[in-house]
Amino acid sequence: MEARQAVAESGQIERVLARLGTRCIVLVGMMGAGKTSIGRRLANALHLPFVDADAEIEKAANQSIPEIFAEYGEAYFRDGERRVVARLLADGPQVVATGGGAFICEETRQRCREQSVTIWLKAEVSVLLERVRKKANRPLLDDPDPEGVMRRLLAERERFYALADLSIASREGPHHALVGEILGALDAFLNERRDP
Ligand code: S3P
Repeated sequence: MEARQAVAESGQIERVLARLGTRCIVLVGMMGAGKTSIGRRLANALHLPFVDADAEIEKAANQSIPEIFAEYGEAYFRDGERRVVARLLADGPQVVATGGGAFICEETRQRCREQSVTIWLKAEVSVLLERVRKKANRPLLDDPDPEGVMRRLLAERERFYALADLSIASREGPHHALVGEILGALDAFLNERRDP
């Protein structure tokens, strides 16, 4: 309740929820962009459920992401990710944090276009690296040169992330300010485009 009062202009929450309808709000972007932490706070401000696609994949497989990559490989993980994101999108309205590679799949992007409003959380490589350093749970960064991997992935993926409906700079600073910025951007976007 406090978060809602702190970040939202009067009527903003109600307008966003009314115009969102049954669609989801989907956060996309690189590892370390803050999709989970911002997504959780955004959901809280909107009084919507929050789901993390990576956590749902782990739950469905009863294995951690590093275990899935090690045992079955990336292609198998991507297949599970595509199916899990499809299921989460069908359960809207809710806020969905996706893994960094999910929006690269054309089928997932198409579903997101139809069933959600997508937000690219954009951050500098230095910020991404600083954030991912804290956890060793990302198999793609289990490499002697994680910075090189991050730069290569960003270069490959940026053009897909740029297809999101909104892009927001994920700067350092208080989370509630970023959530406020996202709510303002969602309000403006949904106001312009009323049709689901
Ligand atoms: C990946 C990002 C991870 C996770 C997996 C692969 C990627 O999610 O899905 O390790 O390809 O960028 P986060 O973006 O939540 O770290």
